[in-house]
Amino acid sequence: MSSQFPEARPRRLRRNASLRSLFQETEFSLNDLVLPIFVEEEIDDFVPINSMPGVMRIPESKLAGEIERYARAGIKSVMTFGVSHHLDSSGSDTWNENGLVSRMSRIAKDAVPEMIVMSDTCFCEYTDHGHCGVLHHHEVDNDQTLINLGKQAVAAARAGADVIAPSAAMDGQVQAIRRALDEAGFSQTAIMAYSTKFASALYGPFREAGGSALKGDRKSYQMNPMNRREAVRESLLDEQEGADALMVKPAGAYLDIIRDIREASRLPLSAYQVSGEYAMIKFAAQAGAIDEDRVVRESLGAIKRAGADLIFTYFAMDLALAGI
Ligand code: PBG
Ligand code: ZN
Repeated sequence: MSSQFPEARPRRLRRNASLRSLFQETEFSLNDLVLPIFVEEEIDDFVPINSMPGVMRIPESKLAGEIERYARAGIKSVMTFGVSHHLDSSGSDTWNENGLVSRMSRIAKDAVPEMIVMSDTCFCEYTDHGHCGVLHHHEVDNDQTLINLGKQAVAAARAGADVIAPSAAMDGQVQAIRRALDEAGFSQTAIMAYSTKFASALYGPFREAGGSALKGDRKSYQMNPMNRREAVRESLLDEQEGADALMVKPAGAYLDIIRDIREASRLPLSAYQVSGEYAMIKFAAQAGAIDEDRVVRESLGAIKRAGADLIFTYFAMDLALAGI
């Protein structure tokens, strides 16, 4: 009964567009996309990010209007990144009730209550040295940073953030944040863990976007891109610590990892198509080498096919405006 050529002719199901769409296995919609945004305090105008054509830093004073515009286009969720003018050695502005982290969530939720606001929870955009935590003898002090992550998470939750998304890559960060949230009465605030985060060169453009002060690298806390077993271990540890959802970051060069984690966990899994992935597509399209719209759709479809439920992508608004 083994059917082979000439009985088997897979081309039968590809003969026209209707057949092809009927038999298409993977799809994405606006329900699956999260738009990361950069919000700068104390500026009046949008600031273009040269390494990410089409992406701008949003002045805080225009954030509410932008959130309304995204909602009208069909965007369901944003992830907030602050560009701070209040840097210090620990990033203490992040847990100030009137600091930028809190204000971004408050403004976004006030503008559009249905918009799901995820608060990127880290310190690198608020520290004068640019690292994702507190320094002690030139090293990022894991456990002191955990205390501060708890404080930042509670401040963001109090300001209305629906989801806390810790990206500092500290050991134990999900457990520390879960405990801090629960103790402060925010047992319903979810944690989207950046559970498998690689020390990737693809974050390059983000450093311009976020105005990062970092000299050096983050290899003592983010993962070695060459490690597959450890990638699964990291996500499973976050699951044990109480994460509500997991993430692989970057996305496109790590489809094997997305598949591994999909098979190892039952939690919702997201993937972050990062700034460098965005820039590679944009600049190649600008040079006329590829068709931007088709490559965007292929790249996001591939990330879903690998096993991601949700995708963080700077292309989300383009797709929303295109009607998906
Ligand atoms: C910082 C952070 C980074 C990104 C998200 N959160 C940069 C880094 O870890 O160096 C990268 C996002 C992107 O490149 O699009 N914790
Ligand atoms: Zn960071």
